[in-house]
Amino acid sequence: MLCASITARFYNEAGKLTSLLEKRRSLHRHLTDRQDENALLRAEIERLEPLANLGTLTYMIAHEINNLLTPLRNYAELAMANTEDVKLAEKALRKTARNCERAAAVMEGLLALANGSGQRPEIVSAAELVDGAFTCLCRDLNKDGIDVRVHVAPQARVRVSAAHIQQALMNLILNARQAMTPGGGILTVQAVEEGPTTRISVADTGVGVDPKVMDRIFEPFFSTKGSAGSGLGLAFCKKVVEAHGGCIRVESSPGQGACFTILLPNS
Ligand SMILES: Nc1ncnc2c1ncn2[C@@H]1O[C@H](COP(=O)(O)OP(=O)(O)OP(=O)(O)O)[C@@H](O)[C@H]1O
Ligand SMILES: [Mg+2]
Repeated sequence: MLCASITARFYNEAGKLTSLLEKRRSLHRHLTDRQDENALLRAEIERLEPLANLGTLTYMIAHEINNLLTPLRNYAELAMANTEDVKLAEKALRKTARNCERAAAVMEGLLALANGSGQRPEIVSAAELVDGAFTCLCRDLNKDGIDVRVHVAPQARVRVSAAHIQQALMNLILNARQAMTPGGGILTVQAVEEGPTTRISVADTGVGVDPKVMDRIFEPFFSTKGSAGSGLGLAFCKKVVEAHGGCIRVESSPGQGACFTILLPNS
């Protein structure tokens, strides 16, 4: 009797063990399948990532060419409307030609970023870069009620591809102008050397960055401006500044304006 009961228990426990082992095997198979799927998906992401980057870069090129075309058209129209005033017409045409050169340099540089051949940095004066960024805007910021204050240390230098960094500064100035429109305010551009680094900042007294979106403003295509913004300006700035071995950061509080700072090597 006792023997029969022990035998029955034995078979019962053995059955449980077999079913447990079967379950374990099935889970293991399941896990292996998921791991294989995971590896395939990773490979697919790796394959698609360069294409996605290329797509974003293409948008960035279009964005920057558009940024340069607006002043180009304005300068050309200024020349056409003032054919009598030879000096003014000549000045406007010279600026048109300079902006064309810049558009070509920006495009060449962005294509170099896209194919990984990098930048061709040179030592340039920070004052020249800041001047170049303002020249590109064409429209006088005073007309929008903006008081422009430029404090650039005359000896401050940066080791950069000038066309790129000018373009990045132009994006920061455009954002500052939009943040202070309407109503106007103060735009302060500063540049100073700090050891091996040069700090260039663009500060405004506009609406400030909404803290809820602070983490997202450098993402490509992130914009709070609806159809008026494509969300590529800051993504472009970050891309080119980092390609120069620098970094960009922002400080802002709602209603208190924003200050974007770029740190770049100077030797
Ligand atoms: N100076 C600023 N003050 C307040 N918010 C800003 C400022 N600069 C940028 N932002 C915020 O960051 C977002 C992203 O800026 P970004 O320049 O990348 O795109 P955008 O200006 O919206 O469009 P665009 O592609 O025309 O530049 C803006 O939509 C805005 O919300
Ligand atoms: Mg912008």
